[in-house]
Amino acid sequence: MRLSLSLNLVEIRYDFGMSKKLIKMAVFPVAGRGTRFLPVTKASPKEMLPIVDKPLIQYAVDEALSAGAETLVFITGSSKRAIEDHFDSDPELEATLQAQGKQELLDALHGILPSWASCVYIRQSAPLGLGHAVLCARPVVGEAPFMVHLADDLINAPVACLKQMAAIHAEYGGSVLGVQNVPKQDTDKYGIVTLEREVAPKLGKISHIVEKPKPEKAASTLAVVGRYVLSGSIFEDLAKIGKGAGGEIQLTDGIARLMQREPVYAFEFEGKRYDCGSKLGYLQATVEYALNHPRLGDEFAVYLKKFAATL
Ligand code: G1P
Repeated sequence: MRLSLSLNLVEIRYDFGMSKKLIKMAVFPVAGRGTRFLPVTKASPKEMLPIVDKPLIQYAVDEALSAGAETLVFITGSSKRAIEDHFDSDPELEATLQAQGKQELLDALHGILPSWASCVYIRQSAPLGLGHAVLCARPVVGEAPFMVHLADDLINAPVACLKQMAAIHAEYGGSVLGVQNVPKQDTDKYGIVTLEREVAPKLGKISHIVEKPKPEKAASTLAVVGRYVLSGSIFEDLAKIGKGAGGEIQLTDGIARLMQREPVYAFEFEGKRYDCGSKLGYLQATVEYALNHPRLGDEFAVYLKKFAATL
């Protein structure tokens, strides 16, 4: 079943700030080595790759904060120290900028993280898979619902994708996965869901989820794209499952188990997604974000037009 495309976002209430089911925790699995971007990722985290003037992980954090997250849980690994430094204060740099009267740059530094948000860093001791990475957050998250954000998947949306999903969670409860239709030949790059029934426009209850099925075996083309609102009870499942696709402990397999006792919904969010785990997707995001940049956009558009004429 394909989700209807007729959703009018105005129908979704985003004023859930004071209401029930607020989600305070966001988990960012950032332990992966980013081998597709070597050599740049040899000593630097792929999540620190810039899209114009902000690293990918800052887009991720901004999205989670706008969805109501207050505690940011990073599941890190080796060569990821730069992420901690990015979200930490830097009194020396701030004093220098202050002394030089560079207020705008100072504001940019202060804008990285609001004072009410806190960061927690947990090391994933071995690369055992996304499901294992999420399980590492259990001691901090406990039993409450939480968000998971994969920073590789950059989503440009009129309302932040996780905020759209938090509104769905506030309305329907359960767990919510952000999904998009992908080309049939690409199903083996994603968790692919099958819907039992449509619950509302663009929202369906999931009956099956399979990690990276081959195109000829995929039951649909509806793919999970790196945004999850999950029930805290998924930790029970993640602790019990073994290795799945690719020999890794898969979040998808934990969700498949969770679905047997709690509803899991697929939500076709509004927004454009860039696969910044691939060089092409990363370049597309860079160009489009540069074109939309308030300071650079106009000048860059002039340059691009001239350059395109030479191709
Ligand atoms: C992960 C998940 C997959 C999901 C994808 C979204 O795969 O395992 O289910 O569809 O993220 O980007 P990865 O890209 O880490 O291989």
